[in-house]
Amino acid sequence: MNIFRNFVVFEGGDGSGTSTQIELLRGRFQSGPGEGLPALFTTFEPTDNPIGRMIRQALGGTLPLQPETIARLFAADRNEHLFGAGGVREHCLGGDLVVSDRYVPSSLVYQGIDCGENLPALLNRDFPLPELLLFFDIDPNIALRRLEKRPNRDLYEYLDVQILVRERYKALLPAYAAGGVRLEFLDASKPAEEVAEEVWRVLRKLPIFKK
Ligand code: TYD
Repeated sequence: MNIFRNFVVFEGGDGSGTSTQIELLRGRFQSGPGEGLPALFTTFEPTDNPIGRMIRQALGGTLPLQPETIARLFAADRNEHLFGAGGVREHCLGGDLVVSDRYVPSSLVYQGIDCGENLPALLNRDFPLPELLLFFDIDPNIALRRLEKRPNRDLYEYLDVQILVRERYKALLPAYAAGGVRLEFLDASKPAEEVAEEVWRVLRKLPIFKK
């Protein structure tokens, strides 16, 4: 399977703090000394392009769609995210460090719950692998408490679903390591600043930092 060099993916259940960590990482690149640091391009799925926005409506409950339709939309959104102008491939080839908040594993985990294994596996079969995958592991009880402050709950933000999500990630991720992806588990229940230090420790092992 094709691996995109310089492509890093953050994965975890809802409330595991992946978006916060991306922000902290951006801060580190902005305020850092700059020497030896590659350019950082951060991104996320579902994207804020038209397909991604449609997905967010579906997850928020304002656009009723069949689970299989949602699975297909995620794959379509991902294809643009990767291969469209200004997308992941372009940035990786340009020598940037690309960090995405979620990617294929999210579809295998979440749409796997709604649609069964086969459809998400088929739809996502041909996407390239990231060089590094960080899994933000956290007890779903703690994670959901973090989300309580938000006004609305998305489709998957329920304890029973999140327990299943965590189990499914843990069952699925080792196959990535077997496929040549560098895989790291982080304890995401720690304070954000401590998690950020762990993220940095892991990221700095990438060859892109050794140039
Ligand atoms: P995310 O943006 O991480 O959540 P938020 O913006 O609310 O912090 O992801 C939104 C939801 O989308 C999350 O519950 C996981 C889900 N998701 C899938 O179900 N499949 C996918 O392929 C992706 C990328 C996300």
